[in-house]
Amino acid sequence: MFLKLVFMLFFLVTLVASKDNSFTYNGFQSSDLDLDGTADVIEDGLLRLTNDNTQVTGHAFYPNPIVFKKTSDGSVSSFSTTFVFAIRSQYPTLSGHGIVFVVSPTNWFPNSLPSQYLGLFDSSNIGNSSNHVFGVELDTVQDFGFDDINNNHVGIDINDLKSYNATPAGYYDDENNGQLKNLTLFSGNPMQVWIEYDSEKTKIDVTLAPINVVKPTRPLLSTTKDLSPIFNNTMYVGFSSTTGLISSYHDVLGWSFKVDGQVQNLIISKLPTLARFSEKKESKILTVGLPLILLSLVFMITLGVMYYIKRKKFSEILEDWEHEYGPHRFKFKDLYFATKGFKEKGLLGVGGFGRVYKGVIPSSKLEVAVKRVSHESKQGMREFVSEIVSIGRLRHRNLVPLLGYCRRKDELLLVYEYMPNGSLDNYLHKQPKVTLNWSQRFRIIKGVASGLFYLHEEWEQVVIHRDIKASNVMLDSEFNARLGDFGLSRLYDHGADPDTTHVAGTVGYLAPEHTRTGKATKFSDVYAFGAFLLEVVCGRRPIDRVGKYESVILVDLVFECWKRGEILEAKDVNLGSDYVSDEVELVLKLGLLCSHSEPLARPSMRQVMQYLERDIPLPDLSLLSLSSFGLTFGYQEQEVVKDKTMSHISVSVTESLLSGGR
Ligand SMILES: *[C@@H]1O[C@H](CO)[C@@H](O)[C@H](O)[C@H]1NC(C)=O
Ligand SMILES: *[C@@H]1O[C@H](CO)[C@@H](O)[C@H](O)[C@H]1NC(C)=O
Ligand SMILES: *[C@@H]1O[C@H](CO)[C@@H](O)[C@H](O)[C@H]1NC(C)=O
Repeated sequence: MFLKLVFMLFFLVTLVASKDNSFTYNGFQSSDLDLDGTADVIEDGLLRLTNDNTQVTGHAFYPNPIVFKKTSDGSVSSFSTTFVFAIRSQYPTLSGHGIVFVVSPTNWFPNSLPSQYLGLFDSSNIGNSSNHVFGVELDTVQDFGFDDINNNHVGIDINDLKSYNATPAGYYDDENNGQLKNLTLFSGNPMQVWIEYDSEKTKIDVTLAPINVVKPTRPLLSTTKDLSPIFNNTMYVGFSSTTGLISSYHDVLGWSFKVDGQVQNLIISKLPTLARFSEKKESKILTVGLPLILLSLVFMITLGVMYYIKRKKFSEILEDWEHEYGPHRFKFKDLYFATKGFKEKGLLGVGGFGRVYKGVIPSSKLEVAVKRVSHESKQGMREFVSEIVSIGRLRHRNLVPLLGYCRRKDELLLVYEYMPNGSLDNYLHKQPKVTLNWSQRFRIIKGVASGLFYLHEEWEQVVIHRDIKASNVMLDSEFNARLGDFGLSRLYDHGADPDTTHVAGTVGYLAPEHTRTGKATKFSDVYAFGAFLLEVVCGRRPIDRVGKYESVILVDLVFECWKRGEILEAKDVNLGSDYVSDEVELVLKLGLLCSHSEPLARPSMRQVMQYLERDIPLPDLSLLSLSSFGLTFGYQEQEVVKDKTMSHISVSVTESLLSGGR
């Protein structure tokens, strides 16, 4: 059991990491770096590692581990990275302390110190070979304890800050016959660094240049050192920066990284511009007369009152524990301006959880959808926010990216990436303006399956979606399906009164055992996914109103067609004749299989993927002792449960908020 677990973990790590051996950030606006300490992404997408405080540390790491070692012989693969940085001190001749590009087995340094320790080590572990840390430092302070050569150098560090090799900052100028030119690291001017490791020659090259100079042919610093004993199989890459007695802004403007092969170039024109220091203006108050002083006093009081009113308007709740979520927290004021004051004009939809507005974040021009969720329960909020933030780290091409949140009194605001083509149900129901053809639908189905598989099995923890349905599937600009709204119903669970089970979900997609126990599971997600499959192929809702009193239960209808041997009859008439009958049949049968009233009889999402890819054949439905009773059991019982125990179970019908408004 244990071995199996270890194996699975290993498999997972390699799986996740192997997808991730290169990345490029031209500015960090929509990046998902792990930040801690003072590190923050500020306006325009600038990564600011340290602010103007003294004795502070900032870390920014790529969130996923990178596989560095070759499976063949365990040696470290070649890799290269480039980044643009700027260090600006308040003083022209002094700065503190520097930036290190780090490769490390972990992306957290719990006991690390600021100042000369550069946020990587403390006095007990510095120099210890069990650190497995590699770094390239851009150091602006000469520390004699670490034998620093001067107060403006580039050094290669291995487990220690006594550099393995170091040289004064500069570059070999190709325009001037390769003459060495000095550079001042803390000049405030942006400069570019290239770090390259050649696996065969075990050679490390570090090159530096001003931002407007192409990469010099001769590196500034070159060293031969086999990194294989130092690196672990997987390592994190990122930056660490500190200030000491003197504070400096340590900024990174762009970063690109790649294992094996040439790193992708940064696009200099796309990098953020550097915000200016606010220049202190000299007060002229002493040179003006008393009346003017009085006048300005009145003016200031007015300003104060206005400021107070404005504060009130933009007030939000920020508790101590939320500081750790720094980058995921949006300012209410910014969201207010982004949505032009939450005007009706920008309303995208209304549903059970609240309203959704379209917005554009002014500093970055990023289009977002802002969901305002009302909440009364204070209890559970902390847990929920931590979950939201952890969910915000989910990244998959078939999930709507959650960018962050903001909290006010009685209100939670969730910020998602905006999906230009709205929700899928707009293309299926109510005489849609655009009908999707079969290949589009099949691609959407596979996309949603892949997103749900990721939530259930591929991420570090199991995420139950709880509300899968066509109106929660958003379409991006290329009509890729992206599952939205995951985990939101948890808000109600966390704060729920234990005596009453509030089942959040949507009638028609709710598995019978989910209504009965109030507990959402992977099985109940698969059940909802089954209803979704039928919805997409048939173009009808799971429970379709026809006339005033009558409804068609979609799963019954498909089941009847299957029993007659004419399952294709159930498909959407809008599909016309342009479809692949094998695929339509496969999806309809899979929909029936997922709708089984017995949770354990439903396939897992892994199997669903295999069926859809035709890696394994679908089991013969007639052998599964499927009966109409077995299938519709769920719906019938659901009605009974609702009637008998109304006081204990309330079924809330929620609708997608991101949907284009129904
Ligand atoms: C890195 O490798 C060393 C030696 O193989 C091991 O002791 C250490 O636990 C590893 N670190 C991590 C974080 O995996
Ligand atoms: C290096 O670190 C290891 C593990 O933390 C520790 O056992 C060892 O004593 C350290 N070595 C030195 C020389 O401090
Ligand atoms: C460049 O820097 C080196 C080392 O700091 C120094 O010795 C040299 O004088 C500097 N050259 C110029 C032209 O400033």
